[in-house]
Amino acid sequence: MGKVSTGLSMSLDGFIAGPNDGPERILGDGGEWILKWYFSGDTDYEMPNGRMTLKVSPASAELLQEVHRTIGALVSGRRTFDIANGWGGRHPLDVPVFVVTHTVPQEWVYEGSPFTFVTDGVESAVEKAKKAAGDKNVAVGAASIAQQCIKAGLLDEIHIDLVPVLLGKGIRLFEHLGPEPIELESTKVIEAPGVTHLTFRVVG
Ligand SMILES: NC(=O)c1ccc[n+]([C@@H]2O[C@H](COP(=O)([O-])OP(=O)(O)OC[C@H]3O[C@@H](n4cnc5c(N)ncnc54)[C@H](OP(=O)(O)O)[C@@H]3O)[C@@H](O)[C@H]2O)c1
Repeated sequence: MGKVSTGLSMSLDGFIAGPNDGPERILGDGGEWILKWYFSGDTDYEMPNGRMTLKVSPASAELLQEVHRTIGALVSGRRTFDIANGWGGRHPLDVPVFVVTHTVPQEWVYEGSPFTFVTDGVESAVEKAKKAAGDKNVAVGAASIAQQCIKAGLLDEIHIDLVPVLLGKGIRLFEHLGPEPIELESTKVIEAPGVTHLTFRVVG
């Protein structure tokens, strides 16, 4: 069985998107800083769906290749899904996506759709994603879903691509987590131009 892990780009002050996110500006005001490292290196990295090529540093390309090779399914939130317009029908990671939502958008339910809409909570979504992923890992995207997974003790690992910018406002990744501290163990740090890739094991 693989691991359940977040994989998000975050500003130094803890935001994964700026304010005013929407289909026109998927990471909100200032959000271009969060993904600047995707497009400022000299090494081509083609995303698994073959529809997008990043320009990253060799160190980031190596890490992305390793991470993407081991992801078998993704759990996302409905806002992310809507803002990305269902990634045009095929997620960049090219894996089954389990979207946690209160209502199922029927237009996205069709034979062979990579999207499964889960209306009974994050635990159910992670369980379904684990089954789909088999021996591979499950990635958890978006703030509200990651927060609920942390609270429910569903995350094995937190992976953060930390970018050197202070956004000041927007969507915080680490909030609404409850009163108790959550112990982490740092397991990997990769310094790359414009981003520091951090991995932590969730101890509990
Ligand atoms: N920096 C990065 O790497 C990165 C990566 C991914 C996304 N993002 C950004 O993150 C932002 C979105 O994050 P977010 O936290 O605001 O939203 P989100 O997690 O994508 O979606 C939240 C929505 O999911 C549904 N939902 C969540 N928990 C649920 C539950 N337990 N049961 C049923 N439905 C549930 C609700 O929608 P309904 O009530 O409408 O169903 C809720 O409003 C966007 O700006 C996106 O672009 C950033």
